[in-house]
Amino acid sequence: MLPRVILHNAVSADGRMDWLSVDMGQYYGLVSRWKEDATLVGAGTVLAAPDPVPPEDEAAFEPPEVSPRDKRPLLVIPDSRGRVRTWHALRAAPYWRGMVALVSRATPRAYLHYLKQRHIDIIVAGNDRVDLRKALHTLNRRYGVKVVRVDSGGTLNGVLLRAGLVDEVSILVHPTLVGGTSPRALYRAPDLTSAKGTLGVKLAHVAKLKGGVVWLRYQIRR
Ligand SMILES: NC(=O)c1ccc[n+]([C@@H]2O[C@H](COP(=O)([O-])OP(=O)(O)OC[C@H]3O[C@@H](n4cnc5c(N)ncnc54)[C@H](OP(=O)(O)O)[C@@H]3O)[C@@H](O)[C@H]2O)c1
Repeated sequence: MLPRVILHNAVSADGRMDWLSVDMGQYYGLVSRWKEDATLVGAGTVLAAPDPVPPEDEAAFEPPEVSPRDKRPLLVIPDSRGRVRTWHALRAAPYWRGMVALVSRATPRAYLHYLKQRHIDIIVAGNDRVDLRKALHTLNRRYGVKVVRVDSGGTLNGVLLRAGLVDEVSILVHPTLVGGTSPRALYRAPDLTSAKGTLGVKLAHVAKLKGGVVWLRYQIRR
């Protein structure tokens, strides 16, 4: 059985996922409603985390304590190229009961060795990149995962959506115009290179219209 998959993301009013100021309490306060069995986090998201990572100590090599009463979700990261080397810090965080790396047959052996040494569970699915459909099936079969919340950027979201694996998309629209580089962006601003140039706006009106259209009106803050 395939688990139910939910994308939950914060976006700017012009649809960007970066350079936003997000109230993390609000963002993560909403996720308990899905009662996720696993959090699927993109490797790109892990690598982009701004917090400094402490060096490894011997705790990274100890087997995890497993309790059937532990209801926290699993942390699952697709990482076919073996780029994530911060599992010790993720393991020390209080949010997850266990860690699973999704890899492919092309994943470097040295990385598999790194994971095994640290007791990170491994699911091998796919030849080059991770076959996410297979991996989701295995998560269900091996760990009883029925609900997956995805915490990732547009890359993993896109792969999951194109593969028809997503059941729900949850979007928190923030009162900011970030700007983009394409003429098809709502707000083309190729000169901006950091969050500094984003425009704060004030939500003035929200309405649900026919056909599932949401009407948002913003006042520009001057
Ligand atoms: N605003 C929000 O709500 C929000 C939430 C999360 C993250 N973010 C932001 O999003 C940015 C990171 O996003 P991102 O798009 O660069 O990375 P990402 O989506 O977090 O990570 C890319 C993931 O997709 C996998 N992938 C790529 N191609 C694949 C394929 N063909 N088949 C299977 N898996 C594939 C990669 O695995 P491999 O390594 O194996 O290729 C990797 O795990 C950061 O700036 C982060 O802050 C924003």
